[in-house]
Amino acid sequence: MSKQMSHLDDIPSTPGKFKMEKSPFVHNRLRWHSSLAKLTFWSCIFLGLILIFFFRSPSSNPLPQDPSRRSLRTYNWGGPAWEKRVRSSARVRSHNGISVLVTGAAGFVGTHVSAALKRRGDGVLGLDNFNDYYDPSLKRARQALLERSGVFIVEGDINDSALLRKLFEVVAFTHVMHLAAQAGVRYAMENPGSYVHSNIAGLVSLLEVCKSANPQPAIVWASSSSVYGLNTKVPFSEKDRTDQPASLYAATKKAGEEIAHTYNHIYGLSLTGLRFFTVYGPWGRPDMAYFFFTRDILKGKSIPIFEAANHGTVARDFTYIDDIVKGCLAALDTAEKSTGSGGKRKGPAQLRVYNLGNTSPVPVSDLVSILERLLKVNAKRDIMKLPRNGDVQFTHANISLAQRELGYKPSTDLQTGLKKFVRWYLSYYNGGKKAAG
Ligand SMILES: NC(=O)c1ccc[n+]([C@@H]2O[C@H](COP(=O)([O-])OP(=O)(O)OC[C@H]3O[C@@H](n4cnc5c(N)ncnc54)[C@H](O)[C@@H]3O)[C@@H](O)[C@H]2O)c1
Repeated sequence: MSKQMSHLDDIPSTPGKFKMEKSPFVHNRLRWHSSLAKLTFWSCIFLGLILIFFFRSPSSNPLPQDPSRRSLRTYNWGGPAWEKRVRSSARVRSHNGISVLVTGAAGFVGTHVSAALKRRGDGVLGLDNFNDYYDPSLKRARQALLERSGVFIVEGDINDSALLRKLFEVVAFTHVMHLAAQAGVRYAMENPGSYVHSNIAGLVSLLEVCKSANPQPAIVWASSSSVYGLNTKVPFSEKDRTDQPASLYAATKKAGEEIAHTYNHIYGLSLTGLRFFTVYGPWGRPDMAYFFFTRDILKGKSIPIFEAANHGTVARDFTYIDDIVKGCLAALDTAEKSTGSGGKRKGPAQLRVYNLGNTSPVPVSDLVSILERLLKVNAKRDIMKLPRNGDVQFTHANISLAQRELGYKPSTDLQTGLKKFVRWYLSYYNGGKKAAG
């Protein structure tokens, strides 16, 4: 024990403390205190290292990130230089322009919508948490693209209310284009919490801040065709039932529609939900079939083609990104103002839901044939039974409501749209040599 003490005493203390030694009693107490201080100091260092390890551990971790950990991630925001960037990005540059906060701006649809708004002279500020659901380097490349056209993407989570409030303090956004979400139907079986985190908690967090903002913005947000779930009446119309979701993803989007109704009803928020039907195109999402089919055909890997019961065809109403962007912009342009202020409703506000599809479902096997022609490679088809893991047999949009009220008119067929996608894919991944993640 005394050896240990003498060893600890070898570590130099501060000269001032040495000078204060007067009696053996004080001396012993001081030695004890200094040992305690050292112990506390090293414990803090140890604790700090553990915390750093937990919060900064690289994405080499093969397990999907725990959403609660994701929400604890800290981002750098704030300060005069940051506020200046926010203001400049959101500045309206055209007569009658709008200023829009685009959530999920580093995502597939978010990047295209942000770029289109900026091109018209609207003010655009992006927000994205750059999560690793799919290769984040693709999100960073989209960010760089937007940066070049003057769109700043703030790095943060929609669950961070303090950040959202700060953004509304710096900019009086007239509109919010809410596209941030956990997408994909199958991943819900692996990481269900991420859907609750982004699609439910995140939506509520955003609406809470919007309802308290003065003025309240009008909100346009992405729901999904997946809300039609097991509905068999075709084409899917906004009036059809949406209470039979086939995946947790669909259930969270359906919940989003109900949450939107509540915030419209209580707080007078103007809310428009857009049910997108399988969006595809350049800068697309690597987890979607058209994207990974392209990758795997080029690699010579076999691709799974699902078949429903009794050799039933699986088909999708593939919708080209430019058509979706036009629909989003039309929804923003026709959105009426929210009617509440200071968190209180002053009168009824607009509440809308639209299908944004292409109205021409294509069997997935036809999609593969088009890709084979464009890539000049024969695919190795692996026909499989459609698993019961969230996918539905077909989607088909009735778009007459969007046509009538938004002037929405999709104009790109699958052949033309895939040609543009393949051209982008080959140039982005260096002729297919650099493999997509
Ligand atoms: N692409 C489609 O075919 C399709 C179909 C139906 C609906 N949608 C919906 O459209 C929207 C855009 O889809 P996408 O294809 O561009 O997906 P995407 O995954 O490419 O984009 C979503 C973006 O949101 C970000 N994000 C996720 N959670 C977040 C959070 N908590 N805070 C901040 N950012 C967060 C992600 O990092 C990502 O960049 C989503 O709401 C999606 O559910 C897409």
